[in-house]
Amino acid sequence: MMKAVLIPGDGIGKEIAESVKEITKALNCDIDWLEYKAGAEYYEKENKLMEDGLLEMIAETGLALKGPTATPSGKGFRSINVQLRQHFDTFANLRPLRSLEGIKSRYDDVDLVVVRENTEDLYTGIEHMEDEDTAHATKIITRKASERIIRFAFDYARINKRKKVTCVHKANIMKLTDGMFLDICNQIKDEYPDIMADSVIIDALCMKLVVDPKQFDVLVAPNLYGDIISDLCAGLVGGLGFAPSVNIGEKVRIYEAVHGSAPDIAGQNKANPTAILMALGMLLKDNGYEKEAEILNKAIEEEIREGKHTTSDIGGTATCTEYTEALIGRIKDETDR
Ligand code: NAI
Repeated sequence: MMKAVLIPGDGIGKEIAESVKEITKALNCDIDWLEYKAGAEYYEKENKLMEDGLLEMIAETGLALKGPTATPSGKGFRSINVQLRQHFDTFANLRPLRSLEGIKSRYDDVDLVVVRENTEDLYTGIEHMEDEDTAHATKIITRKASERIIRFAFDYARINKRKKVTCVHKANIMKLTDGMFLDICNQIKDEYPDIMADSVIIDALCMKLVVDPKQFDVLVAPNLYGDIISDLCAGLVGGLGFAPSVNIGEKVRIYEAVHGSAPDIAGQNKANPTAILMALGMLLKDNGYEKEAEILNKAIEEEIREGKHTTSDIGGTATCTEYTEALIGRIKDETDR
């Protein structure tokens, strides 16, 4: 039996985690979900951000599926996402984004993967006030982290039979930092003659993505640009409700839904669990449950295409439970065949 950590998190987290457990059962996956509490609600009760043993258990299993977590208000708290990222050095954030039939969006054939460097760039938090009117932030790009993420993007493309990797940068202005990132990309691409490679300046990329996203396949970017284009690409496929992602380290993978804890609808059984179920699909595929992942993804695609049991965020009337039950019905039909 495979063990994996499940962190329901805050707000709608408990509702969508319930959906994860029901779907795992329906798929007959022998996964032992080890549930741990973390987030702002846990902090209110216990005065700490996460349950004891959580980090150790993620280290032991190497796998976690995480719901949304809020950060307690007030100064001095680092978000749980940042803490997990730093603790496990999850250097890559991978976000696949594909159009779903039945979801209103600008294009119906988007199929992109954003590979975002997760540990450096302008996100190291090194900032200071030079004087009362001048704030400084430090942008750090290292050869080690750049090589690691760029090689990861090409390997991902090769393993997943993708055709092209595009390096995202602003090397015309940031000649040393982004210049080095681009140079490394240009060196590494020669090791992968089977994958097409090109590069694009971040501002031009934003325009091109909006006008014609089909020209891109895998995008690899330093932290800040990666963060922004991840959300831009989510917008191209109908929003964050359909965006799963995974944070990848050498020994640990933390899968998650990208959306937040949706406090406005929490506890009302209105949450759409699709993003976390897509993240579950990624976890299954990466861990030897390819067939189950395929069945789950097919059930989601068909249910959303048909639109009879969808949740209110995408114009339906079903509750989270009803939508989950409809998916379970499809999974059972498929597995009984
Ligand atoms: P949010 O994503 O929670 O909500 C934005 C809007 O989208 C709301 O109207 C909400 O009802 C809706 N929404 C989000 N997910 C949904 C779902 N699965 N089904 C149906 N509707 C959904 O963003 P917001 O309001 O900015 O953040 C709320 C809290 O979540 C904050 O405390 C924030 O820090 C936290 N957060 C946590 C994240 C994480 O742990 N990965 C990511 C983003 C925010």
